[in-house]
Parts: sequence; C-alpha cells; structure tokens
Amino acid sequence: MSLNTRMNSFWLSKESNASLRRLLPRLEAKYKDKTDHAEWDMYMGRLKRHFPRLFEHLHALYGTDYDFFYYLENTLSSATEMWLARPPELKALDAMREADPHWYLSHRMVGAMCYVDLFADDIEGLRKHIPYLSEMGITYLHLMPLFKVPQGDNDGGYAISSYREVNSSLGSMEALAELASELRDHGISLVLDFVFNHTSDEHEWAKKALAGDEEYQEFYRIFPNREMPDAYESSMHEVFPDDHPGAFTYSNRMKKWVWTTFNNFQWDLNYENPAVFNHMTEEMLFLANQGVEILRLDAVAFLWKRLGTNSQNLPEAHRIIQAFNAIASIAAPAMVFKSEAIVHPDEVNKYIGLEECPLSYNPQLMALLWDALATRDVRILKRAMEHRFKIPNGCAWVNYVRCHDDIGWVFTNEDIEAMGLDAKQHRRFLNQFYTGRFEGSFARGAPFQENPLTGDARISGTCASLTGLEKGVAANDQTEVDLAIRRILLLHGIIMMIGGIPLIYLGDELGMLNDYDYDKDPAKTGDSRWLHRPHFDWKGAEQRHDTNTVAGRIYKGLLRMIQLRQQNLAFTRAETEFTDTGNPHVFGFFRNHDQYSVLVLGNFSEKEQSLDARRLRHMGMRKTMVDLHAGRTLTATQELIMEPYQLMVLTRAV
Ligand code: GLC
Ligand code: GLC
Repeated sequence: MSLNTRMNSFWLSKESNASLRRLLPRLEAKYKDKTDHAEWDMYMGRLKRHFPRLFEHLHALYGTDYDFFYYLENTLSSATEMWLARPPELKALDAMREADPHWYLSHRMVGAMCYVDLFADDIEGLRKHIPYLSEMGITYLHLMPLFKVPQGDNDGGYAISSYREVNSSLGSMEALAELASELRDHGISLVLDFVFNHTSDEHEWAKKALAGDEEYQEFYRIFPNREMPDAYESSMHEVFPDDHPGAFTYSNRMKKWVWTTFNNFQWDLNYENPAVFNHMTEEMLFLANQGVEILRLDAVAFLWKRLGTNSQNLPEAHRIIQAFNAIASIAAPAMVFKSEAIVHPDEVNKYIGLEECPLSYNPQLMALLWDALATRDVRILKRAMEHRFKIPNGCAWVNYVRCHDDIGWVFTNEDIEAMGLDAKQHRRFLNQFYTGRFEGSFARGAPFQENPLTGDARISGTCASLTGLEKGVAANDQTEVDLAIRRILLLHGIIMMIGGIPLIYLGDELGMLNDYDYDKDPAKTGDSRWLHRPHFDWKGAEQRHDTNTVAGRIYKGLLRMIQLRQQNLAFTRAETEFTDTGNPHVFGFFRNHDQYSVLVLGNFSEKEQSLDARRLRHMGMRKTMVDLHAGRTLTATQELIMEPYQLMVLTRAV
C-alpha cells in the first residue's frame, strides 16, 4: 500500500466513524421504538459492520456534492424503513442465511429460467407448475421481468414503468410475494431482475421529465443538443444498432436528446445524481421484501458514463454495485447479487466478489461451448477456462447453455489468436455456422443486431435448433436427430458438472425448437431473440417420461445428470482442475473434493475418439474405472474409447 492510499484509508475510516456517530442517534430516535429491541440491535450490528464500505463508495461517488451528508442520511433512512417493513418470514431467512452465507455453493443448486406468460400464462399458472420444477430438482427460478411495462414492445419486460407493480396481465405484487414464499416452501429460491440501468419512458420519473420537470430530467442523461451526444459517441460502441444508431434518442416533446443505450424507450438513469441512487435503493429493497433471494443485476456494464471512454465497465459502475451490496447486507442479507455482464471476460470477472456480485453469468463458457461444438475442437475452451474460470472463494458462476438473450462471441481475441486464428474471421465463421449459412452446418439460428458496417452479429435460436435437432427433424434423419440429442446433453452435462450453478432455459429440457411465429406479433417482430423464446410446450412435457420420444430422451438424460450432480460430493464446493486430455476433441476437467474426485470428459465431435490409457494413468486414473454417468465399470488397457458427443464422469481414487 502506498503512503497515499494509507493516508486516504485512514482519513476515510475517520470520516466514516464520525458520520456514523452523527447518524446513529438520529436513526435511533426515529426508528428504534418501531421494533423489538433485540431485533434492532441485530440490525445495528449489521449497519455498523457494513457502513464503512458503504461510506467509502458513496463518498467516492458523491462526496464532492455539497449535499452529500443529506443524501447519506436519506439512504440510511430508506434502508431502515425498508428493513422495518420486511416480513418476519424474510427476517428469519436473513438469520438463516447469515449462519450459512454461502448456501448457493451447494451441489443441490440447479437453476431454471422462464417468462411467466410463455411458461404458465400468469403467476397463478406458475404456482400450479411448481411440481414440474420440483420433479427436475430445480432450486433456483429466474422469472423474467414481470413488472408494469409499456404496451407493445417493452424489450421482453426490460423497460420497466414501475418497480412496485406487477404487469396486470400476470397478476399482482401480493401474488408474486405469495409465489416467492410458496417456492421457498419447495426449496426453490426466487430470482428476479433489478433493471436498474434504465427505466421505460413511461416510468413516473420519465413522465415528469417529459413534462419539463427539471428535477426529474436530472434523473436521466438528457442533453439540449447534439454536442455532448456526439462527443460521447465518438468513443462508444452501438449496443442495439437495429433500433437506433448511437446511444441517444431525440425526444420531440422535450426537444432534447436522451441517453438510451438499448431501445429508444429505455432511458438510462443518471447515477451521478445521488437522488437516483437513493430512489433505486428503495426499489431494490422493495423487491427484496417481496422474497427475492437472488437479485439479477441487469446490464451492469452500462451504469456509468464518461467522455472519452466507451462508457462501459467504468470503476464507478463497480462502486454503485458495491454500495448497493453494502445496503442489501444491512437491510436484506438473505438476498445475494448476480451480475449480468456480457462483456470481455476480464471485465466480467471484475464484477465478481463477495462485496460486489457473488454470482455471475458465465458468458465466456457459454460462447465457447458453442465454439467447440462448431469447430469440434476444445482447445480454445480449455485455454480460456484455465485462465478465467477461477473466481474468489465463496463466489460461483451461473453456467448456462442458452438464456433469453442472443449468443454473443464474448471470448478474448488473444485466446483465438493463440490458436493461430484471426479473431474477426473466427467470429464471422461462427455467425455463418450458427445461422446455417456455412456449408454442412447442423445449426438453424438467425442473426441478431447484425451490423452491416462492421460485419458484427450475435446469434438467436433455441438450444435444440442450434444443435441440429430442427434440421434433423425436418429431414426426418434419425442419425441427425440422435446426434442433436447427444449435443444437447453434452452441453448441459458440462454446465452441470463444471462448478457453479447450472441454469436451464425451460423448454430446453424437452428440445423445443425455434418459434418462427414471433414475426407476426407486432410487439416482437424485428427482435430475433423471440425466436428462442417459444411458448412452453406442455404437450411435449406430457411425453417427457416416454423415452421413445425426442422430448423424453432429452428429459431423461437431463434428469440423470441432475441426479448425478445433486447426489455426488465431487460437485459440491469442489475445485475444478482443467486437464489436457491429449485429444483436441475431448474436453476434460477434474472436480476435486477432499478425498474424492471425478474426471469429467466430453467428446465434442460426432466421431468416436480415443484417449491414451497411459496418459489417463498419469493423471491418476486406474485401469478400471466407474463411469458414473453411464452407470458402468470400464477398463482401459491401451485406450479409452468415447462415443460421439459422449460425456463421461469417471471416479478417481485418491
Ligand atoms: C439485459 C437483458 C436484455 C435486455 C437488456 C436491456 O442485457 O438480458 O434482454 O435487452 O438488458 O435491459
Ligand atoms: C444532480 C444532483 C447533483 C449532482 C449532479 C451531477 O444535479 O442534484 O448533486 O452533482 O446531478 O450530475
């Protein structure tokens, strides 16, 4: 630590202590008598513990504002009021989670995600389908945003008009809170989004801004002319070029330019304004009080903007999240954060930490699984995992094959170039491959936000359509269908076993294909991501126990892997160690748990592959091994033969 940082941290802790000394009596006077004194003391304990880091971040963000102390006090008052309003059931959960703060590292964790309307019509319908989730062993359910949104296009719920109202076609806030509690009774944690980078242009704040209220215009990033927008844009990338060029939208009503990173109806909030931070604190804790256990922080990369940068992943964005984290630790400690940063892998990792986001999507693994499937070569995947899979203790990846968004090729250029490939060409190849334009490709996907100027694109399509099932079924080609099923199971097998929480997009367990009808819906047309957001196929689900059907084969294969994960110590809080299998088509890693370890092998090609048995023995494997996945014992004297796309889970004696 340099002298400067030491002095700075000394100064900070002095000021933070002084602020707390001034604030505590004021909070006590206002709130102490509103609750049980023992409970109050516990709350105070947490406040004292987490206040220093809250102070540090807020001071760095807003300390130069003359009214800093006013906002600091407001924020603590908000937190305290929200904590007082927290239902007893959730305060009990707080206590339970504080006793086992890393509960989400358990191998019992299996995630699923869905749109409430597409899966079950509404919240009531979802309640009825809890048994379906339980049958699969789901313990984590991410419901896509279900709040009040504008009619028509609302980016699948990501343009929120009120964080406190549920979209009336789905149910009510009371129904949502009841659902959270019922899910919890079934061992399922509710995961919801905190869409905090932007609101819809119909949010009350935006409406006031539109009406000319300058106080609310300060809630967003609004400019009188093109001067600043042009200056910012000169160093930025476009995120949704199909919707509008650049990052700004002109409002005829205000005759001003509004920062809109995504769609023109999604207005970016201005976190330089401490009032925004304060209000969003209340919205966040309101969600926590409905029973959310994992909060998915949407679009974290974009929270802060600075001239001359690409306005992504700025240090202040991290501070905002860390400040929210400190507040949640004080007022709703049962809730943990998961980051949604779909950016360069090194930037993704920076959001991960116990005091920021203990959970994070793993977009690099997702992208490289698809890469390995297209190239039949696992070397880039292996290299990238060796460098970036390890994250701090107590944190976990959320590993997924597919989500509701497009597949972006968010791996590093260096990892591609290390293979002697050109990164740009390689991304182009993957786009060609997954849109089915590449000769011989098994995939049936569509481009998303294709940028004709730069040639960039991302990919839409369901897991089944991208792995060849759509093509195989259309051609009535049993071999193709069989290979596609193997590919689906292989990808899911890796996310189950690799370490972290696997996340299944509901419908993928039945092999649901692309929904081309989305184009007929005016609210969805033009956004190809709806291709892979079909209505859940409950007819198909009825066939899930019939292994003569495609749905049944996938479902059964998946259930088996979930069982394997949930009943095997090797998958709990265990180290992942990547290994060179000596065969570029076969991905391999150990999961090591104290006295017990397994070797997971995945063949990413449609051809049989062999592994040298001597090499396996050097890795500590015996000649005779048990494949937990196939449920059989095998002996490898000279070589170990793997079937096309086979996944093996071999026990290693230690
Ligand atoms: C996130 C969501 C995506 C949405 C965007 C804007 O990336 O996953 O669906 O379009 O944020 O909210
Ligand atoms: C708003 C806030 C002020 C802050 C400014 C920065 O005007 O009230 O405190 O410094 O935004 O954008």
